[in-house]
Amino acid sequence: MEASKPRIGIIGTGYVGLVSGSCFANLGFQVTCLDIIPEKVERINKADPPIYEKGLKDLLEKVVLQDKLLHATLDRKEAIDNADIIFICLPTPSGADGSINLDFIKNEAIEIGKLLGEVDEYKVIVVKSTVVPGTTSGIVRQLLEEQSGKTAGQDFGLAMNPEFLMEGLAISNFTNPDRVVIGSVDQQSYDFVKRLYSEFNCPILKTSTSAAEMIKYASNSFLATKISFINEIANVCEMLDIDVGEVAEGVGLDDRISPRFLRAGVGFGGSCFPKDVKALYSVSKAVNRESNILKATLATNASQPLRSVELLASLMPLTGKTIALLGLAFKPDTDDMREAPSVIIAEKLIQEGAKVKGYDPIAKETAEIALPQIQHCHSVPEVLEGSDAVILVTEWDEFKNLQPIDLSSVSQKIIIDGRRALNWKEFREAGFIIKVLGQSVP
Ligand SMILES: NC(=O)c1ccc[n+]([C@@H]2O[C@H](COP(=O)([O-])OP(=O)(O)OC[C@H]3O[C@@H](n4cnc5c(N)ncnc54)[C@H](O)[C@@H]3O)[C@@H](O)[C@H]2O)c1
Repeated sequence: MEASKPRIGIIGTGYVGLVSGSCFANLGFQVTCLDIIPEKVERINKADPPIYEKGLKDLLEKVVLQDKLLHATLDRKEAIDNADIIFICLPTPSGADGSINLDFIKNEAIEIGKLLGEVDEYKVIVVKSTVVPGTTSGIVRQLLEEQSGKTAGQDFGLAMNPEFLMEGLAISNFTNPDRVVIGSVDQQSYDFVKRLYSEFNCPILKTSTSAAEMIKYASNSFLATKISFINEIANVCEMLDIDVGEVAEGVGLDDRISPRFLRAGVGFGGSCFPKDVKALYSVSKAVNRESNILKATLATNASQPLRSVELLASLMPLTGKTIALLGLAFKPDTDDMREAPSVIIAEKLIQEGAKVKGYDPIAKETAEIALPQIQHCHSVPEVLEGSDAVILVTEWDEFKNLQPIDLSSVSQKIIIDGRRALNWKEFREAGFIIKVLGQSVP
């Protein structure tokens, strides 16, 4: 490692913390990761990722075992002492009313503040968690200063550097971002953080900490709104005998719009979009500028998973039937079950008197925790065995190429394609009734 390279501390080794830490280590930075869960720390130190993310295992093997640039610990003092720049990558969940719960961030600011008070060296604290505008320059700064007896922008640095990675593509997103946003309380903090990204080939945007926080929320809210928008168009298309896939293609070819996030389906889930839209909506109300768009985005998304159950119920009574769910994770290539539409769909089916079986290629452990009320299977044949109908919930590659013969054990030959992923023509020709969100059925 070059002597001049700042050392990095990562607080919280979830999707953001572990991916960021591993990618920084891969760029030659010495990284110390802190978590409170002993099993996570042990697994990271053995290069065994505690989360599923494409390429993460190989990367950990390189940076932990081979290069010895990343190390995980349960000891906060060790993580802070061994770092010049400390990233806070802790959860920022929704509170009961949808507003952000900042408890993890506040508690951490207190703990880091105490340790900052004990050291002489200049360190920069960077909030990477998604937090509402004003958090870094407000409560985080206040707690750090109170606990350390020092002044931000003078004795220590303070910055906000939002993360835009998408689970499933997190490593390539982190390494090749569209942009890096650095909000800082002063120039020195900005210069420190910018050094970490010197090898990145993208615009680096210098902003206030609050603008950086708002950029993250506005980006996620825009993408979520795009999904709810195409889902509403899909619902109208269904009534007008139009295939929304053709519409989305024609709309997406407009350079100003782009085809991404224009795929109609059972709605968005995951750890970010639902909570971030709720948090920004809450902020808009708190400042007396209630956002009608964000309110509608959330309302559309709440009802969208249920469309698949409505479609199924229009084809057969659900009481006493066994329904197979293909895919449980909130999207493909992740094991993340947070706010997954599969949970809403399964609950509704059970409420309607059906029995539910589910299979996901990767999200097994997480799905068993999030959906204890369904029968979990280990393969496509197992989930289809004894089922009356199927709902495709997550468009894993494994499902996209399914042929009618693969679903021959589905007794009523009924399929709801909640992600527009199957080859409908083939299934219809083979005698299946297949209903697709955003498409009227011939
Ligand atoms: N997941 C994403 O795709 C994504 C993308 C961009 C931004 N974000 C934001 O980044 C933040 C973190 O998200 P995540 O998905 O990585 O969360 P996560 O829940 O996957 O990870 C959080 C980690 O912090 C650990 N932790 C909890 N309390 C701790 C403490 N006191 N000290 C040390 N470690 C502690 C947990 O054990 C866990 O490993 C959130 O604000 C989120 O909104 C997430």
